[in-house]
Amino acid sequence: CGIVGYIGGQNAAPILIEGLTRLEYRGYDSAGISVLGGKGAQVHRIVGRVRNLTAALPKRLAGKVGIGHTRWATHGPATEANAHPHVSEDGRISVVHNGIIDNADALREQLTQAGVTLSSETDTEVLAHLIARSGAKTLEDAVVEAVSRVTGTYAIAVTDTEHPDRVVVARNGSPLIIGVGDREMFVASDLSALVRHTSQVVHLDDGEFASVSATGYRTFTVDESDTGKAATAIDIQADDLDLGGHQHYMYKEIQEQPECLERMIRGRLDDRFGVSRLDGLNLTPRDLRGFARVKILGCGSAYYAGQIGATMIEDLARVPADAEAASEFRYRNPIIEADTLYIAVSQSGETADTAFAVEEVKRKGGRVVGLVNVVGSTIARACDGGLYLHAGPEIAVASTKALTNMAVGFAMIALALGRVRDLSNADGQRIVAALRALPKQVAAIVEAESQIAEHAKICADARSLFFIGRVRGFPVAREGAQKFKEISYRHAEAYQTSELKHGPLALIDEELPTVAIVPSDDLADRNLAAMQQIKARKGQVLAITHDDVDFGDLDVPRFVVPRSEPELDPILLTIPLQLLAYHAALILGHDIDKPRNLAKSVTVE
Ligand code: G6P
Repeated sequence: CGIVGYIGGQNAAPILIEGLTRLEYRGYDSAGISVLGGKGAQVHRIVGRVRNLTAALPKRLAGKVGIGHTRWATHGPATEANAHPHVSEDGRISVVHNGIIDNADALREQLTQAGVTLSSETDTEVLAHLIARSGAKTLEDAVVEAVSRVTGTYAIAVTDTEHPDRVVVARNGSPLIIGVGDREMFVASDLSALVRHTSQVVHLDDGEFASVSATGYRTFTVDESDTGKAATAIDIQADDLDLGGHQHYMYKEIQEQPECLERMIRGRLDDRFGVSRLDGLNLTPRDLRGFARVKILGCGSAYYAGQIGATMIEDLARVPADAEAASEFRYRNPIIEADTLYIAVSQSGETADTAFAVEEVKRKGGRVVGLVNVVGSTIARACDGGLYLHAGPEIAVASTKALTNMAVGFAMIALALGRVRDLSNADGQRIVAALRALPKQVAAIVEAESQIAEHAKICADARSLFFIGRVRGFPVAREGAQKFKEISYRHAEAYQTSELKHGPLALIDEELPTVAIVPSDDLADRNLAAMQQIKARKGQVLAITHDDVDFGDLDVPRFVVPRSEPELDPILLTIPLQLLAYHAALILGHDIDKPRNLAKSVTVE
């Protein structure tokens, strides 16, 4: 979900709408705004996209203070009644909220008994009533009092028709940022809603509140002590957020990868000694040597990037490494070891499951570093150190450039861990040279897009697909299947090529195509044998492969990617799978940047 707020000298509505449009990638089931004007709070809500909201607004909607929200449904379906802002019975208090209130049912019950008629099924609505009924003199006190009764996670923005000179905000577990302008102030859950207006921002911490007026802000805690937060400058350019002439953000982001990779490696590689210089990790060579294991934690594509990373770490550093879905890890009372390096990986830096996994590691005294794209995000700040991905804002829900930079980040961490162990200077130089070659190689793959587009038709027509790979190729297949599912809505299952004959081969027929990851490595023969088995059952195969793999008499369409060093090949093998998913979704006419049911960053559990 996304939150915006404005207070200043301009009309709030257009600014709120523009901010919501920027945030729509975070959730797009319903949208709404509340503007304080002459007539009290004017609240407009709709089911669907922000553009529907724009169409539904009255021509003249005056008012210089307001809040807005775009929703990804958690409690209650996407209906107008469940859309934010939620308003108190007397119309005084408007609230927008991200997160989940765990004790909402109990609070709804208490409010009903006290005579309040609830008008939605949401957890958020209780906040509006609690604030309105608090009896406190100031809005700030009423908000503090209300959230003290609430358990769960929240970022909220509140307006009060009796105090139209302020917006009060609070944060606990969901991001909230204040943007400082010239006699105007902004509030948002995400930088992308602010960058058009200001580069000065204040990140609230969990447990922090702020009272925001047109000319300033005050940050404080639940016991009303000031925290005196200063603004910091951000370096995102507003242009980074535009489509730049492309039809879709996903396409733009695929195209941007060569530059993103350049930024990722810049200043971090040493050719002479074949090492990576990762000062941000805050780990000395001795620290690096001391780790007996690596555990990578992330969700969705970040988790698959973690699996690619774990293989690189085992290959290059010979340190046992594995990746686990952060969403599972945090709930299974994990054993935290002092000699394990934990790596949290996240594009947004706000994924709740990953953020909580980080907290769990820290609570138990583990050492955790972050591989995060968004500067100043919750996970980036919670970690003991880390590497920023420098991929620039990623807007499309399906991750492409951030995922690629994650994989490169893992390669550099693998190099750092390897070079304090048995990885030789020469091998280190070999990997550094391969990393430097990546941007041009990715550019070459992206240029060969039309070849991949040709194959997308077969995949788009199929009701179900396999993505297969083994060892280094398996996480590539998993990520390929994930990308395909996300935007084509086709069932795609990743399988180890080696396991196909132990069960799933039963599914193969002329209607179930397979995308096979076939790098030029010592398993190529085994992979070819598996493709023969598929062909023998009339299954169609598309091979993502290297030019020196000898297919003999096996006649299957191939997409050839340039070779890297074997340890880094997965980075390049994933790129055609992005294009395959993109073109299939294009053929199917889907909303590529905003696939149904998903949100870019899931800040709820
Ligand atoms: C959501 C998105 C996925 C994404 C995952 C992790 O589930 O829909 O596309 O991979 O979150 O996001 P993160 O920001 O932590 O990388």
